[in-house]
Amino acid sequence: MPKISVGRNEEDREEHGLKGTGIIGKHLVGENEEAHKANPIYFDLAKPHVMGVFGKRGTGKSYSMGTIAEELQGSDISDNLSTIIIDSMGIYWSMKRPNDRAAGMLEDWDIKPEAFDAKVYIPEGRTEEFEEKDMPYDSTFTIDPAELSAQDWAMAFDIDMNSEIGILLERAISKLDDKFGENYDLDDINKAITKFDFDESTVKALENRFMTAEEWGVFGDDSSLDQFTTRGEMSVVDVSMYDELVRGLIVGLLGEKILRQRMAARRMEELDEMQGLDTNEMPIVWMMIDEAHEFLPNKGETPATDTLLRWVKIGREPGVSLVMATQQPAKLHPNALSQCDILLSHRLTAKQDIDALGEIMQTYMRHDLEHYIDALPDRAGTGLILDDNSERVYPVQMRPRKSWHAGGTPDAFED
Ligand SMILES: Nc1ncnc2c1ncn2[C@@H]1O[C@H](COP(=O)(O)OP(=O)(O)OP(=O)(O)O)[C@@H](O)[C@H]1O
Ligand SMILES: [Mg+2]
Repeated sequence: MPKISVGRNEEDREEHGLKGTGIIGKHLVGENEEAHKANPIYFDLAKPHVMGVFGKRGTGKSYSMGTIAEELQGSDISDNLSTIIIDSMGIYWSMKRPNDRAAGMLEDWDIKPEAFDAKVYIPEGRTEEFEEKDMPYDSTFTIDPAELSAQDWAMAFDIDMNSEIGILLERAISKLDDKFGENYDLDDINKAITKFDFDESTVKALENRFMTAEEWGVFGDDSSLDQFTTRGEMSVVDVSMYDELVRGLIVGLLGEKILRQRMAARRMEELDEMQGLDTNEMPIVWMMIDEAHEFLPNKGETPATDTLLRWVKIGREPGVSLVMATQQPAKLHPNALSQCDILLSHRLTAKQDIDALGEIMQTYMRHDLEHYIDALPDRAGTGLILDDNSERVYPVQMRPRKSWHAGGTPDAFED
């Protein structure tokens, strides 16, 4: 029987076999409590993908995303990959620890608990807070305020570009761009704001916004986002201290930079290919975003919307992969949904969410989606994989994690 390899096309299957795949779970055969684990499900890590991970609360989305990150790290091609986890909940630092508490369950899968070299990055201005609370981190990151457009700021501050404040913002930023290019800081912005003839209250209001921005603790002389694309590394970018707009600003900027870098690298790789060389100038980047509807909502825009839409639309060519987890696929931007070539759906119950899924994959469903979902046993980590590459649907039991998952549900039973 041919092996199940999700996301891998026929050509790659023939040429590479299972090289560059990882095992994420086992095929579930049978229905409900009769269902049993059968063959392993291999997952393609070598090609760029757009993946959605869905399921209602506590069904295993964050956990499964960690599983994919483990496979990327442990893979035989990990040197050509780099993994970035956008950590909205501050939970992925625990991948540094082996999942000893699940040793029994892991044994059943013939897997050993394993610690991963996750590098946790926090904003430069937040180190004290982390140290006070004894929260582990490895390094810091900054962004350069001069790299943000007036539009980016307006979205992060949630102000209308056509309002008085918006107009002042636009003028100040465009003046700074003209005068200094990419060489100005928050102080320069604050000075520029006062140089125009606007109501005192408008000026004050905008100044206040930039004062808040200073407190975010993320701005520095340079953007140090390049460090997240180091070969073979897994970076956990902790943005849990921010609201969704500031998170969006960081993700938007990071996504933009990676896309540009990868496009340049791809050009070089193509030139090499013309000379018969198979080179890899820069790793293929996998970015994983938990709570993805915050960044790419179906209504409204965040500072990350444009960039992430470009990732899903053109990401195959430069070689970037995006994994988006959300409780409610119906709340995710429809273009992001429709571009997914792999879906992992844990249990979903809301009709609109099931419909959202069904719409993408209906062409090759043998039964209706509800039938598949109803047949899933009520166990942690079960779900459906819908693979556009092979046009198949697989019920799956996702494997237990090798590394510790910090996103468990707290309870009040202990003293
Ligand atoms: N494949 C699995 N094997 C074993 N246990 C699992 C598996 N997947 C999930 N679990 C269990 O389910 C719990 C909840 O999973 P997870 O934190 O991923 O939920 P979630 O879908 O991200 O929820 P939320 O929407 O609240 O963020 C985990 O802490 C873990 O105990
Ligand atoms: Mg979660």
